Amino acid sequence: MARRRPLFRRETPSMDLSRWMARARESIETWIVQDLEAMAAKPGSVEEAMRYSLLAGGKRLRPQLVLASGEYLGVEPQRLRLAALAVEYVHTYSLIHDDLPAMDNDDLRRGQPTSHKVFGEAMAILAGDALLTEAFVKMTGLLEAGFGPRAVVAATRALAIGVGREGLVRGQVQDLAAEHVDIGVQALAEIHRHKTAALFEACVTVPAYLVEDPEAVEVLSGFGQGFGLAFQMVDDILNVVGDPAKMGKAAGTDAGLGKATYPRLIGLGAARSLLAEQVQAAGRALDPERGELLHQLLQYSIERTW
Ligand code: IPE
Ligand code: IPE
Ligand code: MG
Ligand code: MG
Repeated sequence: MARRRPLFRRETPSMDLSRWMARARESIETWIVQDLEAMAAKPGSVEEAMRYSLLAGGKRLRPQLVLASGEYLGVEPQRLRLAALAVEYVHTYSLIHDDLPAMDNDDLRRGQPTSHKVFGEAMAILAGDALLTEAFVKMTGLLEAGFGPRAVVAATRALAIGVGREGLVRGQVQDLAAEHVDIGVQALAEIHRHKTAALFEACVTVPAYLVEDPEAVEVLSGFGQGFGLAFQMVDDILNVVGDPAKMGKAAGTDAGLGKATYPRLIGLGAARSLLAEQVQAAGRALDPERGELLHQLLQYSIERTW
């Protein structure tokens, strides 16, 4: 059977990462815009608030991970469109709620005032709720991309577990409970694994569930967890040393809230060393050749300044 031409498969294994990322980002943003157009947001609607946060920018790393995992498994990007949208919607919901006064009380996100500053708390909560639920509408739509019903259920379940009470939500609860509390490095890793790494794990395992490849689920799950932990370590470090103008969000806020972070617990130098170890460990399980793009994305995420 003739293969359809992929949207942006890397032409050579060494195709420049930044080119791959730019093309992936362009596709992801086109998909988001098309989806929002179909929602026909009216002024004062929840869709307007969803649109505001979705189109504010952001790295689009989680949907890029879905597509990169697809490349690892030989799945065309277009077939993963709805999974890519789902993870970006869940992530955007988590940011809107994370910024609420009852949580981190932040005023700036993705370079613009936070959702509750513009639309009020009630609408920000509801926009988050709508994004979270819409993500699961998208997941069930994967049936139309030709994946089998059992595979779609397994992938949907993996995302739900990753972001629910055993995953992201638990991590957010733990993060809040640890404010101004002395905890150890193990407990901190637990927080980060839940609040951040569980969604990263889902991003890379969802495509493996969709193609019903249990060995890949196993390998990618370890990689996603390691990636997510490293990613949150960098977020902690940037909160101390980063430039708010580049990051599109405030710096120094973790210290202000007494958050448990790597720089607070062990200092910046040790946090950086631990990060380097973590990156090594995360990449180890992947097939080095097929996993080149995923490795490169990990490296990029560690070196980022935003
Ligand atoms: C911020 O994630 C929240 C964390 C888990 C650290 P990102 O840094 O990926 O945020 P955007 O999507 O680029 O805005
Ligand atoms: C983000 O954690 C985790 C989630 C949003 C689930 P942080 O609170 O550390 O992230 P930023 O620094 O506000 O983006
Ligand atoms: Mg937080
Ligand atoms: Mg926060």
